[in-house]
Amino acid sequence: MSRQLSSVAQRAPREWRGSSHNVDYSCLHQLAPYIGKLKPVIARELLGQFTSSGDIVLDCFSGSGTIPLEAVMLGRRTLAFDTNPYAITLTRAKLEAPPTLEAANEQLAQRLLDSQRRPRCDQRTIPLWVRKFFHPKTLQNAVRFADECIEKDDPFLLACLLSILHHQRPGFLSYPSSHLVPYLRDRKFPRVEYPEMYTERELAPRLAAKLARTYKHGAKVNRSKVLQIAQVGVADLKLDFEVDAIVTSPPYMNALDYVRDNRLRMWFLDRSTVDYSPEPTERQMQSDAITAAFASNALRYLRKGGHCVLVVGETVLRKRVKTHPAERMLARLTAEYPKLRVEHVIRDKIPDVRRSRRTEGATKRELVLVLKKG
Ligand SMILES: C[S@@+](CC[C@H](N)C(=O)[O-])C[C@H]1O[C@@H](n2cnc3c(N)ncnc32)[C@H](O)[C@@H]1O
Repeated sequence: MSRQLSSVAQRAPREWRGSSHNVDYSCLHQLAPYIGKLKPVIARELLGQFTSSGDIVLDCFSGSGTIPLEAVMLGRRTLAFDTNPYAITLTRAKLEAPPTLEAANEQLAQRLLDSQRRPRCDQRTIPLWVRKFFHPKTLQNAVRFADECIEKDDPFLLACLLSILHHQRPGFLSYPSSHLVPYLRDRKFPRVEYPEMYTERELAPRLAAKLARTYKHGAKVNRSKVLQIAQVGVADLKLDFEVDAIVTSPPYMNALDYVRDNRLRMWFLDRSTVDYSPEPTERQMQSDAITAAFASNALRYLRKGGHCVLVVGETVLRKRVKTHPAERMLARLTAEYPKLRVEHVIRDKIPDVRRSRRTEGATKRELVLVLKKG
């Protein structure tokens, strides 16, 4: 870490409690898995310390919507953007959830009915890498349910479907596979030994159980606080007004691949999704371009004196990365905005192994950069 960052790190806010507090404030946060998801308690602490009630908070890399959801729950107004359609589906699902379990169940009954009236899809048009995860009847029903939700613009039930898409447990729809990143586990659970894991999975009872879990502790969100949620990349960000704060976690340079790792869920949203990953060099260049776009497009909407809070993955060990991601990012941001002041640097361990890939470089710790616009 550079001298600038480490000297400021000494001045981390005294009340900071980091990720040692393990309380999630709403089951909505658990709506569906998302790689690189921020712990809700960290979002809450940062919003509580660096924003005030009624503030407009921008998250231009909203991912699964952790920061926007916490912002609304704390009485802030929010704007959320991301390039990934799965991320936007999740963010909207959390912030536009039906107010009660009864309302959600009614919506589900209608969608199920209408999805069964849809024409059957020709499974030969579905790529093999998708087909190998499902019993053909389950796949048929899941595709029609997804299409119905897309047509009726229902991100909440779509997110519920995507959340139960793959796992090895009976409450899920796929053949035995992992939950976060889709890998078939047919070697561990061979079809001949575990035939029950390869039968058709009915959608209705599994979606109803998902709703019951989601509303276990209530899920009321004040929608009037949500100003905008859209699938917009930071390079294309345009706002008509200033924001009081930016609180966001930019994509982890080189470590996570939001398309590849979400590929099966992504395919249900966008049928052109392929099972591939861009080259690391490409991602390195993309990452610098994203920081540059953030500097010129997002920071300009931050009001004077407003905080920009960035949660940056710290340890990326691939050979091509020469400098620390937070330093690299800070250098670019201050080059564009010389009056940007580093107020705090907070270091926090990422305790959850699911945050990173097991092989190659991995993001093990986070740095929170708290900047103030002069
Ligand atoms: C670290 S994740 C955000 C995680 C989020 N805070 C959460 O709790 O789920 C970074 C996000 O940036 C998004 N992203 C990547 N490139 C982007 C771009 N050019 N513009 C906007 N979002 C982008 C990714 O899709 C990913 O969802």
